[in-house]
Amino acid sequence: MAGRIPQNFIDDLVSRADIVEIINARVPLKKKGKEYTACCPFHNEKTPSFTVSDSKQFYHCFGCGAHGTALGFFMEYENLDFVDAIEALAAEYNLDVPRENTGFTNSPTKDDKQPLYDIIAKASELFQQQLKSSDKAVAYLKQRGLTGDIAKTYKLGYAPEGWNFLTGNLGKDKTTIDALVSTGLLVQKDDGKQYDRFRDRIIFPITDRRGRIIGFGGRVIDDAEPKYLNSPENAVFHKGLELYGLYETRKAVRKLERIIIVEGYMDVVALAQHGIEYAVASLGTATTKDQIQKTLRTVPEIIFCYDGDAAGLKAAWRALENTLSIIRDGQFVKFLFLPEKEDPDSMVRKEGKQDFEKRLDNATALSDFLFDTLKKKTDINTMDGRAQLAESAKPLLAQMNDSIFKDLLLEKLSELVGMSPQKLQQHIISPARDKYQAAASPARRSDRHVRHNATRTAIALLLQFPELAKTKPVPEEFSDSELEGFSLLAELHSHTTQDTGITSIALLERFRDNQYENSLLKLMEWEIPGIEEEQQRNILFVDSMNSLIKKHRHQRYEILNDKQTTQPLTTEEKQEYLSLLSD
Ligand code: UTP
Ligand code: MN
Repeated sequence: MAGRIPQNFIDDLVSRADIVEIINARVPLKKKGKEYTACCPFHNEKTPSFTVSDSKQFYHCFGCGAHGTALGFFMEYENLDFVDAIEALAAEYNLDVPRENTGFTNSPTKDDKQPLYDIIAKASELFQQQLKSSDKAVAYLKQRGLTGDIAKTYKLGYAPEGWNFLTGNLGKDKTTIDALVSTGLLVQKDDGKQYDRFRDRIIFPITDRRGRIIGFGGRVIDDAEPKYLNSPENAVFHKGLELYGLYETRKAVRKLERIIIVEGYMDVVALAQHGIEYAVASLGTATTKDQIQKTLRTVPEIIFCYDGDAAGLKAAWRALENTLSIIRDGQFVKFLFLPEKEDPDSMVRKEGKQDFEKRLDNATALSDFLFDTLKKKTDINTMDGRAQLAESAKPLLAQMNDSIFKDLLLEKLSELVGMSPQKLQQHIISPARDKYQAAASPARRSDRHVRHNATRTAIALLLQFPELAKTKPVPEEFSDSELEGFSLLAELHSHTTQDTGITSIALLERFRDNQYENSLLKLMEWEIPGIEEEQQRNILFVDSMNSLIKKHRHQRYEILNDKQTTQPLTTEEKQEYLSLLSD
């Protein structure tokens, strides 16, 4: 069972994560002076107010006030909790997340889905073993051009004939059977008995983003029906959210630039076999918005690849419709239509990697596919036809976010129908402005300006440059002080002494969900004036600390002075009082 993630692993991970790289892969950034900017992914906007600081490893949106670290961005953007975000961030760097062995079975991160993941993983192991010992299954995959290596990469398996393979190997106790039924690996009959769902089929395990197997697709070896069987949805498997091959793709390609979305399991595996390791498949249905979004958060470019027949065109159109409300500037969606009767598997086997990639390079741009399709439906030589074209484009453009791309589509439409873009725009109602837009009041913008005082300066400096702790230690007594910020300063200092070399970001992450989190986030962003040079920082920190120490001593003096009028001081207090008097 999952234990705690060691703190030093979290420290290293957040220190290592490059916020520009992480964000740029999801929201393409433009360099502007010292910082990077983009339109904010957390609210709707036309002009960029989202900035990312490379030196601070921090992001901030002047529009909606969103701000945080790379890890924080991950949590917000991917909608993950802390542990999942750590896992996802670690996966970006191909790191396994270690766990401390706590010895407790009911650790706080206890996950009730874990038994499902466990049983699915066990079943997959069994299927993989079975493949190795089944001549028939091996021969089938060979005949389809696959090698043992690729079968291993995709963890392909074989579910043997018979009705009780899984219970025969995993056990017939109630817990096992219940788990197998809830994953859909066993089918429950009315008479209370169960049987294996997958029998005599090649097994394609479906993994989630973290590489955990969550379901299976199973293909017949002969031409029985149905050709493919899939795991039903269960607590860990949601078809519309997952993409077959995404995990493997991310693992295989270090710097992913584009992803092909295809229709079939075999297409993904066959493309990988031929060195095109960046294909994923939607799971037997039209590609959903969630799947498109997930992909565009991984790479800036998607190429949908379909047959050139009517069914392929229809599927592509559905994909286009689902893309429009999601696509942002800097992202590219294209369409590749294959010759009739071909699918990516047959095509790449026929012509190989190079020619197939040539097709990818020449794929149809979304805008061309959009207007070509619409034009086919009307005669734009007539006014009626042009009106009809504008009419059919209207709902498509209306769902788009404000973007340069949208403006270009509008312009193109205006050329086609002979009406000014401004006029056209009046007919197209954009989605309601995000509530944040209205909330982006000047007051929020001023958040970034921190009032200058010694406490804030000292805290901000120590947070931004933890090595300053060596220049001037924070007195331990600060931790008991009632003066604002003093105990926080002491806490920061103790982190820097317990973990010498702790980075600024790691230090900041220690305060996640802490009462000080927000104040620290602001202080992290604060551009403290006049501290470019190390020496300037040292001087400012020492000066600030000296003034805080003075303040602390003054307060101690007042407290002790008050106290001694009503009760005797302890020996220690007396000593302290005397030393304070001499100030
Ligand atoms: P295809 O029929 O195009 O299959 O279905 P394919 O991937 O080319 O497979 P091969 O080449 O014949 O082996 C595309 C996808 O549709 C889903 C599967 O996800 C499949 O990969 N599908 C198809 C089903 O779920 N059930 C079916 O019976 C058929
Ligand atoms: Mn096929």
